[in-house]
Amino acid sequence: MAFSLAKIIILFTILFSAVVIHSADADESYATTLSLDELGLKTEKLTRFRFYLHDLVEVPNPTAVRVAGAATSDQSPTFFGAVLVFDDALTNGPSLTSELVGLAQGMYAFTSLEEMSLLQAMNIIFTEAKYNGSSITVLGRNPFLHKVREMPIVGGTGAFRFARGYALIRTFTSNQRDANVECDLYVLHY
Ligand SMILES: *[C@@H]1O[C@H](CO)[C@@H](O)[C@H](O)[C@H]1NC(C)=O
Repeated sequence: MAFSLAKIIILFTILFSAVVIHSADADESYATTLSLDELGLKTEKLTRFRFYLHDLVEVPNPTAVRVAGAATSDQSPTFFGAVLVFDDALTNGPSLTSELVGLAQGMYAFTSLEEMSLLQAMNIIFTEAKYNGSSITVLGRNPFLHKVREMPIVGGTGAFRFARGYALIRTFTSNQRDANVECDLYVLHY
């Protein structure tokens, strides 16, 4: 009898724990509807940024380095398959010596067989007072020989949570490899 009583106690223990676990699950909701106010988000605003990106390849300390490529990339007229990683300075004015406002960190891959064109993924990280530490993420197509290229802004952090918008970029000056790119960003954020 004692044996089956023990069995019953074990059975009850198992059942009871199952009930406790189940009710804990039911009480915890993984999705909660919040208002924008609860996150301290008030009115959405549109900010335009203009800064200059310095992509330096042919210098003693390059800010863009090739990390991968296909065996055929160098023979390809469009460098198809080559991949570079960059950490480029962003300055307020066109000169590399003008005020640093942030960094553009990311990668680009030569993704077209037909023309010079990149898939570019980058984080714009602000280092200047007001937006220091906040970032904007840009992901898009960059056919870099075109006069103006447009890339989507897909999100952000800090001051740019919920950000969306677009970037218009124009090559300001370039020699064969190094480029100075004028970047205009139109960003909706709170
Ligand atoms: C930006 O933030 C970093 C890290 O918190 C800090 O060290 C730096 O002094 C700040 N720069 C400016 C210009 O506020």
